[in-house]
Amino acid sequence: MISHKGQPLLQPETDSGEPGPPREVWGSKLGFVLAAVGSAVGLGNMWRFPYIAADSGGAAFVVLYILLLLFIGLPVLLAELAIGRSTRLSPIGALRASGGKRWAPLGMLFVATGFLILAYYSVIAGWTVRYAIDALVTGFPADPGARFGEIASGGGAVFFHLLFVGITALIVMGGVKKGIERAAVILMPTLILILLGIAIWAATLDGCREGYAFYLRPSVDDLLNPSILARAAGQAFFSLSLGMGAMLTYASYLSRREDINGEACVIAGADFGIAFVAGLAIFPIIAALSLFGDVGESTIGALFIALPTAFEAMGGVGRAVGILFLVALVVGALTSAISLLEVVTSSVMDELKASRRKAALLTGGAIALIGILPALSLGALDIMDHLAGDVFLVFGALLLALFVGWRMKGATDELSVGSRPIFVRLLPLWRFLLRFVIPPVLLIVFFTSVMAALKALGIMAD
Ligand code: TRP
Repeated sequence: MISHKGQPLLQPETDSGEPGPPREVWGSKLGFVLAAVGSAVGLGNMWRFPYIAADSGGAAFVVLYILLLLFIGLPVLLAELAIGRSTRLSPIGALRASGGKRWAPLGMLFVATGFLILAYYSVIAGWTVRYAIDALVTGFPADPGARFGEIASGGGAVFFHLLFVGITALIVMGGVKKGIERAAVILMPTLILILLGIAIWAATLDGCREGYAFYLRPSVDDLLNPSILARAAGQAFFSLSLGMGAMLTYASYLSRREDINGEACVIAGADFGIAFVAGLAIFPIIAALSLFGDVGESTIGALFIALPTAFEAMGGVGRAVGILFLVALVVGALTSAISLLEVVTSSVMDELKASRRKAALLTGGAIALIGILPALSLGALDIMDHLAGDVFLVFGALLLALFVGWRMKGATDELSVGSRPIFVRLLPLWRFLLRFVIPPVLLIVFFTSVMAALKALGIMAD
């Protein structure tokens, strides 16, 4: 690349062929897709989804979840991608550019949500790092329940949280292509191979049938319960990383006009596929040792107690599989944390005109500090998860759907560029869903989540 003065540009990864300020871009289409899948696939897939499915209707839940993904998740994902790619700005600037000053606060809500989520997400990720190290050095604990108590909060939890935020910040500092994309290209295939391997191995265990039955036993009655609809929708947003501008920010680094509709389908499909396979891997292992009693409730610690118990009981093979599973969890958490931090970092870069290095240090440092609270108190962690994970995300997605459906100009054109004809024909349906279907559904989900959060806060208080 040659600048107008005939000298090579200093930053070859910056694409300055387009109008506007130079902006970093992805090295390849695959790099973008893997980074987005990396953002989507995380603790939500390998830890939250299998539980929620097992205790909210099994196979019936899975069907409901797929429908929500297609008619609610995918359209909102496309809305984020359209804003990001058309403005090529981080959330605050992107909403200001496409909607005027009045919409900038939505971008700020996104950034605040990113802050909050990463602060506790990294605490949980820290537990997984600690379990992995434990498993490597001493094997799985004899009394996982007690061990979870030691690991979950206190000085150790603070240390591993700080370590995890530090590693995340280092990768984000590396930039879009050399940091985020490179990490995703190495880590995501690793995660997929490990998980598929474990699922295949799990299918050979005695008792795998009971495991599948526990996971997928269809219970249609459960679906008539509105709180399960809310839970499924909340999970779909959390899992797809929607409602706080993560996908928007990643799309802002796309320079070429490719078929983002197709890419969105790949991202959503991979996200669901990995969550589903995680359940196929986990439940036979738990069934083989009849540990269903330990996982009866989907509490924060359940998986961290039941799985180590099973791995420990299975001897050497169990230990090896357990370590691999923990590696997959750490990898998934890391690529998700990267996207959460990138939203905050890129916003500081764009709004305050800071360098990437400074912005990442500043935002990573602030998140490290806030996260000390959930690292010291499981109650605080639970409240933050309800507040940011359920309430803020759903609210953010609701406003975003209203914005793109009713206010933003040129969104449909943006999605038509470079698209396959089949998707172009579906765009009126997309618009219709954003305008008339998604807002009322999200409103219901929002109120249900607020009620649940208030209930949780009430429980916390006594
Ligand atoms: N999707 C991730 C998971 O399933 C978590 C995550 C990453 C996220 N970035 C996000 C959730 C942005 C909401 C918004 O674990």
